[in-house]
Amino acid sequence: MPNKSRKILLLPGDGIGPEVVREVKKILEWFNKNKSLDFKFEEELIGGASIDKNKIPITDEVFYKSLESDAVILGACGGPKWDNLEFSKKPERALLKLRKELKLFANLRPAICFKQLVDSSTLKPEVVSGLDIMIVRELTGGIYFGEPRGIQPIKNNERKGINTHTYTTSEIHRIARVAFDLAKKRNNKVTSCEKSNVMEAGVLWREEVQALKDKEFKKIELNHMLADNCAMQLLRNPKQFDVILADNLFGDMLSDEAAMLTGSLGLLPSASLGEKDKDGKIRSLYEPVHGSAPDITGKNIANPIATILSLSMALRYSLDLIKEADLIDSAVQKVLDDGLRTKDIISPGKKEISTTDMGDAIISKLK
Ligand code: IPM
Ligand code: MG
Repeated sequence: MPNKSRKILLLPGDGIGPEVVREVKKILEWFNKNKSLDFKFEEELIGGASIDKNKIPITDEVFYKSLESDAVILGACGGPKWDNLEFSKKPERALLKLRKELKLFANLRPAICFKQLVDSSTLKPEVVSGLDIMIVRELTGGIYFGEPRGIQPIKNNERKGINTHTYTTSEIHRIARVAFDLAKKRNNKVTSCEKSNVMEAGVLWREEVQALKDKEFKKIELNHMLADNCAMQLLRNPKQFDVILADNLFGDMLSDEAAMLTGSLGLLPSASLGEKDKDGKIRSLYEPVHGSAPDITGKNIANPIATILSLSMALRYSLDLIKEADLIDSAVQKVLDDGLRTKDIISPGKKEISTTDMGDAIISKLK
C-alpha cells in the first residue's frame, strides 16, 4: 500500500548522528513530495543529547513513541563528553534499553563491498571484490545483559568486575532460525561462531545450532568456527562466508571487522528486528554500524550512506516498500558510479564531497 501513512521515529542522537540522520530526513521528505507516500516522521532526543536536556539517556515519552512507531531510525549514541558518567547513566544505555525492551533479538549487519569501492579497503582488491556477507548477531542476550554484573569491593582494597555470559536453548534457536532463513534466500551457507573450546555457553551454542539445523534446515550447509579463527578468516579469505551467526559480543566485534573489508565503517547499515507480535507486526530499529565518531563531528564530512542504507533496510523489512528500497540502493550505486565520495572513501581521481552534498546527490538519482 503505497500511500498509507507510516510512522517513523528519527533518533539522531550524538556526534555525527544528527548530520547523517538529516540526510535521511531529506529523503523521506522527497518521497512524500514526489512519490505521494505518507511518511509521518518525528524527531526525538536520545543518548547524550537527551542527558543534556533531560538528565537521562532516554525519556519514557521517547521510549513509548518508539514502541508506537512502524520503524525507528537511530543515528548514534555516546561520546567523550559523557564518558565519565556513572555506568547506568551513560548514553549507550538508551540504545541497550531499546534493544532489550523492544526485544530486538536479531541484528542483521550486511557487509557488501561495492565494486566502485574495492580500492577503499585496506585489503587487496582481489580479496574483497564481490564480497557479500550477512552477519546475524544476537542482540538481547549474552554478556551484554547477563546477571550478576557489576563492580564489587573485595578484600585487600581490591575491586572485582563481573559480567555474566548466558544463553538458553530457545534464545539460541530463535537467532539461529533467523540466520538459516536468511541463508535460504542467499547461498544456503551459515558459519556459526563461538568459543566452545573454552566456554560451556559456547558448547551449548554449537550443539543447539547444530540440533536446529538437523531438525529443520537440512539443506543448509552449516559450519562451526571458533570466533577467534573467524576473525582471522575474515581477513584471510572473507569470500568463504555467506551468513555468519554470532552471539552479542562476538557479533559486535566481527561486524566491525567485516565493515572495514568493505572500505569504510561509513557504509554499513543494520537492522535490529524483534519477533512478530499477535498482529503480525515486527518491532524494529535501524542504525548505521558506525558510532558517533566524535573526531569528525560537526565538520559535514561524515558519510551518510550507512544511515541512508539503514533507511532502505527499514523500507524493505518493516514498511513493505520494496520498490522504494531498491530505488535508494540503486541511487547510492549511481552516485558512486559518478565518482562522488565522502572523505572516508576518497581515492585518487574521485571527487570529495560533504555529507550534505552526498545526501543531495543520492536524492538527485532517485528522480
Ligand atoms: C554496536 C555498538 C554498540 C554495541 C554500543 C554503542 C553499545 O558498538 O552497535 O555495535 O556494543 O552493541
Ligand atoms: Mg559495535
